[in-house]
Amino acid sequence: MCGIVGYVGQREVVPLLLDGLGKLEYRGYDSAGVVVRHGHELTTAKAEGKLERLRAKLERAPLPTGGYGLGHTRWATHGAPSERNAHPVVDSKGRVALIHNGIIENFLALKHRLLDAGWTFATDTDTEVVSNLVSSHLDETSSLTEAVRRTIAELEGMYAIAALSTQGEEQEIVAARHGPPLLLGYGEGETFLASDAAALLAYTRDVTFLENGDLARLTTAGATVWDAQGEEIERPQHRINWDPVQIEKGGYKHFMLKEIHEQAQALQDTFSGRVDFERRAINLDSLGPLADPDALAGIERIHLLACGTSWHSALIGKFFIEQLARIPVEVDYGSEYRYRDPIVDSRVLAIGISQSGETADTLSAMGAARERGGRLAAISNVVGSQATRIAEGVVYTNAGPEIGVASTKAFTTQLEALYLLSLFLRQSRGKPIDADLLDPLAHLPQAIVETLEREDQITELTRKYFRSENFLYLGRGLDYPIALEGALKLKEISYIHAEGYPAGEMKHGPIALIDEEMPVVAIVTGAQEVADKVTSNIHEVKARDGIVIAVTDRDPSSLENLADEIITVPRISPFLQPIVDVVPLQLLAYQVGVKRGCDVDQPRNLAKSVTVE
Ligand code: AGP
Repeated sequence: MCGIVGYVGQREVVPLLLDGLGKLEYRGYDSAGVVVRHGHELTTAKAEGKLERLRAKLERAPLPTGGYGLGHTRWATHGAPSERNAHPVVDSKGRVALIHNGIIENFLALKHRLLDAGWTFATDTDTEVVSNLVSSHLDETSSLTEAVRRTIAELEGMYAIAALSTQGEEQEIVAARHGPPLLLGYGEGETFLASDAAALLAYTRDVTFLENGDLARLTTAGATVWDAQGEEIERPQHRINWDPVQIEKGGYKHFMLKEIHEQAQALQDTFSGRVDFERRAINLDSLGPLADPDALAGIERIHLLACGTSWHSALIGKFFIEQLARIPVEVDYGSEYRYRDPIVDSRVLAIGISQSGETADTLSAMGAARERGGRLAAISNVVGSQATRIAEGVVYTNAGPEIGVASTKAFTTQLEALYLLSLFLRQSRGKPIDADLLDPLAHLPQAIVETLEREDQITELTRKYFRSENFLYLGRGLDYPIALEGALKLKEISYIHAEGYPAGEMKHGPIALIDEEMPVVAIVTGAQEVADKVTSNIHEVKARDGIVIAVTDRDPSSLENLADEIITVPRISPFLQPIVDVVPLQLLAYQVGVKRGCDVDQPRNLAKSVTVE
């Protein structure tokens, strides 16, 4: 997960940038760099790997003192993790240094245009397109702010960027946010920039959080901010009085809410470095011997083993693998697997899916598969956990630490990891990975950001329904496991009885429960024929005076006289849609839990990692 730090003022800038980047290390990264402007010169220092290597490099060859600058920790997206691809990235005329979090979706088109105009590229990053673009606009205007403004008007995707240039006499950084967080910090004659407040708290507690679409110019006298419409705007200044735990919570009331909001970044970090969008290829080296096409050619069946939320991701994983790689898949609860004496030999690949990698039931199921001669892989969020140690290969979900007991970002990144694995298996069987399978991954983080914008609506409707004692969740196809997950989230967090069902099963029993008291959450997304069927199920609920909360990617007018509440979500792609659809259900569970006064981060009777069978 990339980190950004910037500073204008009189302090020694390099130690400050390194210190700030150190506070962001927990986010994970694969290279780091700083740029400092002295006089009209830009000097950069970069290193692959941990910050220690950059520090050692700077000790051996210090940058000139004085000046102002930017620092960055990079998690590779476009281009391998290497010193060459580390940020800051300087344009080919050597006058703009730029750092960037996120993904520029239209970078290829922009790159071709810039190449035609004579700009050159020294890295494989999408970031270099932005530094060259800013520099190209400096040919038209002497203002860095204006050059960045013209640049962001051309960018598609999700980004936070910060730039400085060799021009002008004043210390100046220009930053823009469209997606990943950015905040400004203020001191006496100094101004700071960071992607996370933790980087600044040693220097200032007076901060302003930039909004999506904002452009900011930082000087030693403070900052000027313009909104997406180009209007100068006063964003509120906050004094951060966080204690150490609140600092960890990043200002959110609960870890669960913070983790729900971290999903766009976590999803980006999970596909970063694994997808080559240009060559349409997937790289899953961490699978070790299982990444070898010959080893995979011998796999005829796959067993997915998991518990709880991870079991829900396995249900969707089955769909992905069978559809994309045409390998038959069985899904088992970790706690049940060995008791059915499963048929396993070396042609079976068993995959344990576990956020913690320490769940005893999942580990014992993985052990049972191995004892019977199966090949063994893991999907986990925790590096070095037991599941990853016993497996031959791992696909890590790079979600970062998940503290809330209710799994949120670990779930959505598990789905993404399973999708990548399915594409990898497809590739190993010589089938093409078409653009419609790959490109939506790049749009996914932005779709999550847009879905999170429904938070106020969900808070509002929570007021009406938080006293209900029962909830029913309905979905079809890929949204059936999402219905199960929505129900589990609500149960865990609010202690309300909730059940998830395939929508078509409702008439075979649960329909008896429906009355004017019970909210039914219906997920109406995906293929038209599936959505039409769920809509018919909604009619059945309404005919019995039930309350319907619909989550849909369709024109809401199609449900207007039917559903009591309509939460719209962006449409992404048939395979990735469930990742978007679960987000409003997570927010609903969270809001209901908070409204009922429950301890949402540590619900009663539950543990984050269940290490007993
Ligand atoms: C998720 O919200 C739950 N707390 C729980 O179901 C969890 O998913 C399950 O215990 C499995 O945990 P794992 O992914 O760490 O193996």
